[in-house]
Amino acid sequence: MMEDIESVLFDEKELARIVSGLGERISRDYIGKNLLIVGILKGSFMFIADLMREITVPCCVDFMAISSYNGSKTSGVVRILMDLKKPIEGYDLLIVEDILDSGMTLSYILENLKSRNPASIKICTLLDKPARRLSQVYPDYTGALVEDRFIVGYGLDYKERYRNLPYIGVLKPELIDE
Ligand code: IMP
Ligand code: MG
Repeated sequence: MMEDIESVLFDEKELARIVSGLGERISRDYIGKNLLIVGILKGSFMFIADLMREITVPCCVDFMAISSYNGSKTSGVVRILMDLKKPIEGYDLLIVEDILDSGMTLSYILENLKSRNPASIKICTLLDKPARRLSQVYPDYTGALVEDRFIVGYGLDYKERYRNLPYIGVLKPELIDE
């Protein structure tokens, strides 16, 4: 798979440093709260597994699966493929995403979850690609900013592949067929 990667943006050490910084901030901010981590599948599964181990306050986790992407292009249409298992009233929600791109997915999820009356909602994204933003979504915790390149690894996919790479890298553009 390495031969499909043009350049490595974040290696394992760098990812660990970013994730532990986020975990520290979240742990500080959620003291005495009722933290429920809402993971957005599938892209965030690896990030969440590492992030939760850096969170030192009590917390629960649940998952939602959303679909809006086909290959490397967003369809703009967001669908819930799998919903949360329980009501979220009274919980302090932290939505955890792998990457914030157009913002269509997160703005949809945000509105949807707000209507279920949680105590609070914040957003944590490992990566942010601000150049491509279409919706006004403002993450509360951002691991790192990235340029407008298609990236894979550490949970991020292209056509469901490359999620198992332990690092994040730029996919060779010639491998992307739109
Ligand atoms: P948005 O709705 O455009 O913000 O899309 C967010 C979702 O698109 C993310 O959760 C990813 O699953 C996917 N995505 C956006 N950019 C990339 C990328 O560079 N590589 C892999 N997936 C991406
Ligand atoms: Mg994805």
